[in-house]
Amino acid sequence: MDELREVADLLNRSNCAVALTGAGVSTPSGIPDFRGPQGLWRRIDPRRFEIAYFYAHPGEVWRLFVDTFLAQAEAKPNPAHLALAELEAKGKICAVITQNVDGLHQRAGSKRVIELHGSLRYAVCTSCGARFPLSEVLKGPIDDAPRCRVCGGVLKPDVVFFGEPLPYEALQDAMMLAELSDVFMAIGTSLAVAPANRLPLIAKRKGAKLVIINQDPTELDEFADIIIRGKVEEILPRIAELI
Ligand code: APR
Repeated sequence: MDELREVADLLNRSNCAVALTGAGVSTPSGIPDFRGPQGLWRRIDPRRFEIAYFYAHPGEVWRLFVDTFLAQAEAKPNPAHLALAELEAKGKICAVITQNVDGLHQRAGSKRVIELHGSLRYAVCTSCGARFPLSEVLKGPIDDAPRCRVCGGVLKPDVVFFGEPLPYEALQDAMMLAELSDVFMAIGTSLAVAPANRLPLIAKRKGAKLVIINQDPTELDEFADIIIRGKVEEILPRIAELI
């Protein structure tokens, strides 16, 4: 309980607390994470989500994407998402930076959400850059990669594949928030993937307190000021209650 109270006190005294979330915040909503005990990368080769593999096998990756990620569209926000939205509403956190593409933070009521890895809402044309709602693109069965109705180019889900640059504005916003934060919480993420895993270090370098809330050890535990091991869906609501 002490660490929970310590984090609540930090948030009460902070001017700008920022949360960086990962797939562990959405597992209670039924969405598997990537590197946890039941992680997606334990049953699917992540190389199939590299951008070069997509360009070589667009139809195959689209079918895999639909089987793997589209179920997320049915998921509902869980108490962890709701607690973060409540902390923002109480003025205790100023933004959520998320690596997730499921849109659940927004559906839980969070207003300032930076989506570092894109979202499931759109497909983007790899030739002309036109964007289309994914629900429109996936109306029929996916035999081959859907095509752009503007230029005929191959469409790609608007999520960041391995080897692709992150959305420029989102990354700039996230780095600015990490620099401005005086409390930086990494929640439900293994902190295994760059450049997202650089953000806690940017915050630390600027003097922020680093809080890691995660079920398993992460790659940056040695830099944390406070580590809370446990389930985010239990921990975050209890912190929100203490505020
Ligand atoms: N409570 C607390 N921690 C949890 C919970 C939970 N309910 N469920 C899972 N976790 C933890 C796991 O122990 C794991 O350490 O969340 C972490 C999730 O880590 P990853 O699966 O690596 O997911 P993430 O950090 O978001 O991955 C980053 O990697 O594959 C790419 O683009 C993908 O955005 C993803 C990025």
